Amino acid sequence: MTQEELFKKLVAHCKEYGFIFPSSEIYDGLAAVYDYGQLGVELKNNIKHYWWDAMIKLHHNIVGIDAAIFMHPRVWEASGHVGAFNDPLIDNKDSKKRYRADVLIEEWMAKQGEKINKEVEKARKRFENFDEVMFRQTNPRVLEYQAKLDEVHKRMADALNANDLEGLRQIIIDLEIACPISGTRNWTEVRQFNLMFETKIGSVAEGANKIYLRPETAQGIFVNFLNVQKSGRMKIPFGIAQIGKAFRNEIVARQFIFRMREFEQMEMQFFIEPGTEMKWFKHWKEFRMSWHKALGFGDGHYQFHDHDKLAHYANAATDIEYEFPFGFKEVEGIHSRTNYDLSRHGEYSGRKITYFDTEKGESYVPYVIETSIGVDRMVLQVISASLKEEQLENGESRIVMSFPPALAPVKAAVLPLIKKDGLPEMADKIVDKLKFDFNVQYDEKDSIGRRYRRQDAIGTPFCITVDYQTLEDGTVTLRHRDSMEQERVKIDDLHSIISREVGFAKLFEKIVNKD
Ligand code: GAP
Repeated sequence: MTQEELFKKLVAHCKEYGFIFPSSEIYDGLAAVYDYGQLGVELKNNIKHYWWDAMIKLHHNIVGIDAAIFMHPRVWEASGHVGAFNDPLIDNKDSKKRYRADVLIEEWMAKQGEKINKEVEKARKRFENFDEVMFRQTNPRVLEYQAKLDEVHKRMADALNANDLEGLRQIIIDLEIACPISGTRNWTEVRQFNLMFETKIGSVAEGANKIYLRPETAQGIFVNFLNVQKSGRMKIPFGIAQIGKAFRNEIVARQFIFRMREFEQMEMQFFIEPGTEMKWFKHWKEFRMSWHKALGFGDGHYQFHDHDKLAHYANAATDIEYEFPFGFKEVEGIHSRTNYDLSRHGEYSGRKITYFDTEKGESYVPYVIETSIGVDRMVLQVISASLKEEQLENGESRIVMSFPPALAPVKAAVLPLIKKDGLPEMADKIVDKLKFDFNVQYDEKDSIGRRYRRQDAIGTPFCITVDYQTLEDGTVTLRHRDSMEQERVKIDDLHSIISREVGFAKLFEKIVNKD
């Protein structure tokens, strides 16, 4: 099965089992907007919980806030979003389809990378004792492809940094990139397109003020810097974390919940002394990467990708990329934002936004390291990594979700073997014992095998089967999802067994003890 087919199965599975639905589906949906269903919301909440506690509980100097989505319109002038939060767009005149110019070029570069990999794989099959490093350094065809790739990469980075729209278009023309729909190279000029959604505040249109739906949650933190610092008597270095909705009028909306128009971010701004930003940038890069890797999806599926074009506020930036079925893509950004935001809010609001360092006896505008991750991209990462297709003996296949137990939407299913003789009542009692601490399901329909399969399809780590022996000796069969191993355990031990496996402590220990 190709990665594309696998991804289609993933989308279908998410809908069939109540993880994610297209928004307003009965009206044929709304592009790039999605709703989370009964299991999706549990998974999403668990991911938020994992992030929030890793930031707040594991750090004595990070606190959380929950700022409003609507903000004073001057915020977005100060932050630079009104002037500079743009994507370079190009239209194909025949298909009338619109693309991001830089994405078209990046896709060309990815194909060039694939050509190199193909050469390597061909040679690997041909030669015994194949030395890949040597081959990449000396093979003329590989060197030619690589040189072209490097040249295009540099041209694109230069054009983006210089805001040279004609230069971007020229790369597309020179590389003879064609529209995937029409197949033609009939391109318009490249234009900048602002991504912020506008709306009006106030009840009468004439008296209304234009405001924006926030395109990032970060600004809610910056405008509250003084409030939190003073009310919490925070000392630098310290961080403020927040989870909340953000909105962007994405033109190229693709790949399911990867790029949405309404999405959620988990952001943390870490306020530091000027001059220490590279030390903290490195620290947060490492911490955030270990947060991802602790989930156990395989270290090889992650990479850092430094930005070619720095955002208007940054002096260093990198992405953590995960290998989705459609390639390595950004899940999280780590940015050294200098003192840009606080300085600009000081300037635009007329307030003095500084920090007084009591030990040094001086005031300064703090610098900021930001970690910013999309909740929805993280959901997609977890689903992509957990979805496994298994071939059954009868030739059919089935999908199993091997979620990390701490993130699984349902932690345990309680299943009476049959629907009579007091077994359902006993199963109810077990549910009552567990439900205060865990999300548990009760299921009595169909054969036990089918019920196990239903739970595997939604990634439930434990199934608890109640049978006649349970009534005699107070034991149940505990089935483990991944090994399918079954063991006989006491009802009284269930809580502690489940608790040990599904708690976040196991993940946090891996982060804290990674060295
Ligand atoms: N405050 C910095 C900031 O917003 P960003 O790189 O534009 O930086 C951070 O966004 C993260 O938000 C991304 O790494 C991604 O996970 C998520 N994100 C951004 N745009 C998104 C979209 N249209 N749909 C889903 N997630 C998105």
